[in-house]
Amino acid sequence: MKLALLASLVASAAAFAPSKVAQTSTALKAFENELGAQPPLGFFDPLGLVADGNEAKFDRLRYVELKHGRISMLAVVGYLIEKAGIRLPGNISYDGTSFADIPDGFDALSAIPSAGFLQIFAFIGFLEIFVMQDVQGTGEFVGDFRNGFIDFGWDSFDEETKLKKRAIELNQGRAAMMGILALMVHEKLGVSLIPEL
Ligand SMILES: *[C@@H]1O[C@H](CO)[C@@H](O)[C@H](O)[C@H]1NC(C)=O
Repeated sequence: MKLALLASLVASAAAFAPSKVAQTSTALKAFENELGAQPPLGFFDPLGLVADGNEAKFDRLRYVELKHGRISMLAVVGYLIEKAGIRLPGNISYDGTSFADIPDGFDALSAIPSAGFLQIFAFIGFLEIFVMQDVQGTGEFVGDFRNGFIDFGWDSFDEETKLKKRAIELNQGRAAMMGILALMVHEKLGVSLIPEL
C-alpha cells in the first residue's frame, strides 16, 4: 500500500516538468507560454479570467494561486502529521490541557482554547505582513519572498532549472489545494482517505 502510494507520487511528480507545448487559442495569447501552462491541460483559462491580456491582473492571480498553493501544502502536511498522532510536548493552556489532548481534523477546531486561536491568527498575521512578502522589493518574479535572505543555492541554478523548480512549486501547490479540500470533504463525509495506522 505504502509502496503503491509512493509510486503514484513519483509518477505524478514527473507531470510537473514544465513544457512549452501549450497552444490553445484565446484572442491575445498573452499568457499561453507562462509558467504553469503545461500538460495535461496546457493553457487552461475556461472562464477567460486573463483573456484581456492584462499583465497586472495575471500577476495578481498568479500571486494568489501561489499563495493558496503554499498554504495548502502546509495544510496537507499538517493534516497528515496530526493524523499520525504527532503533537507538541507539554500543555496548550494553563488549565492543564495538553497538546496531546487535541484531536486531529475538524475536531481540533472546538478543542483548541480561544486564546490559542488568537495566537495562531496573530502569528499568521505577522508572517503575512512582515515576512511572507517581497519586503525589500527585490523579488525577481511573483511570489519571490527571498528578500536577499533565504537562498538555498537558488542563484546557482541556470534559468531552465529555476523555471522547472517554480513549475514544481506551482503544481505541488495546485495538487495540495485539491488535496486538502479532498481531506476535509472526506472527513466530513466520514470516509478516511488515509489508511488507519
Ligand atoms: C500540564 O498540566 C498538568 C495538569 O494536567 C500539570 O500536572 C503539568 O505540570 C503541566 N505541565 C506544564 C509543563 O505546565
